[in-house]
Amino acid sequence: MTRIIDGNEIADRITADLEPCLETLADAGVTPGLATVLMSDDGASETYVSMKRQACADLGIESIHHELEPDAAADALFDRIDELNADPSVHGILVQLPVPDHVERRAVLERIDPLKDVDGFHPENVGRLVTGNPRFKPCTPHGIQKLLEAEDVETAGKDVVVVGRSNIVGKPLANLLIQKADDGNATVTICHSRTEDLAEKTRRADIVVAAAGVPELVDGSMIGEGATVIDVGVNRVDADTEKGYELVGDVEFDSASRVADAITPVPGGVGPLTITMLLYNTITAASLQTDVDVSLP
Ligand code: GUN
Repeated sequence: MTRIIDGNEIADRITADLEPCLETLADAGVTPGLATVLMSDDGASETYVSMKRQACADLGIESIHHELEPDAAADALFDRIDELNADPSVHGILVQLPVPDHVERRAVLERIDPLKDVDGFHPENVGRLVTGNPRFKPCTPHGIQKLLEAEDVETAGKDVVVVGRSNIVGKPLANLLIQKADDGNATVTICHSRTEDLAEKTRRADIVVAAAGVPELVDGSMIGEGATVIDVGVNRVDADTEKGYELVGDVEFDSASRVADAITPVPGGVGPLTITMLLYNTITAASLQTDVDVSLP
């Protein structure tokens, strides 16, 4: 029987384990604060940010929200980041991506104080991660590690194929999984749009992570018997529903779930973990900035 991995349940357990950390901070008079910045009127981005803010409110993290018009000057965003960098009540800063084309993404990520960079996208934090001394692990890759751990899926010595080379998921995940660490020690192949014979590579993997942003790119014929399949895709495709679309992953769930040992659904798989690890990183940031030690799960 294929196991359908319940991301909500795992996320809830980790979130419960964060509560003592918040109590420790509260005892020292610290309430972690996360600033979210949205410079977009894309519906999906608005939804993601509001889910992140709700998760903060539910746990007792202060959520500070800023919106800029998509056609505002890049300097307006940079000035806002500078203000948040200087605000001691703001421990974490998240600028929702993508930003508009006239704003250079790289400049945005470099503007955020690395100690408040709860996404882990600043080059200093990327460098730390790659060299095996992470400060903030990017939320989705970190969530995938937690999910594999919760499901007792061994990574050491296993073949992992990551489909997708983004800076948000593919690259940091591959770097985490090759680290000499209990939740690493894997042999990782990164595949992308120019990979030849993708199916041949995914078929021999113990763990397949689909993070290419292509609806149902990976189907059952591309999965080896007994593999674990992690679907990071959240794609809106036109459908005859109330909203006019439905969400599908990067994996064709029906065919893949007939072959896999375990598989994450969309929604309800990786997504909830991404949000939980943002809370985790915000608590880490508050701890680092206030010198209050917390023991994170
Ligand atoms: N857009 C899609 N995923 C992410 C993420 O993890 N962080 C930010 N800031 N923007 C995103």
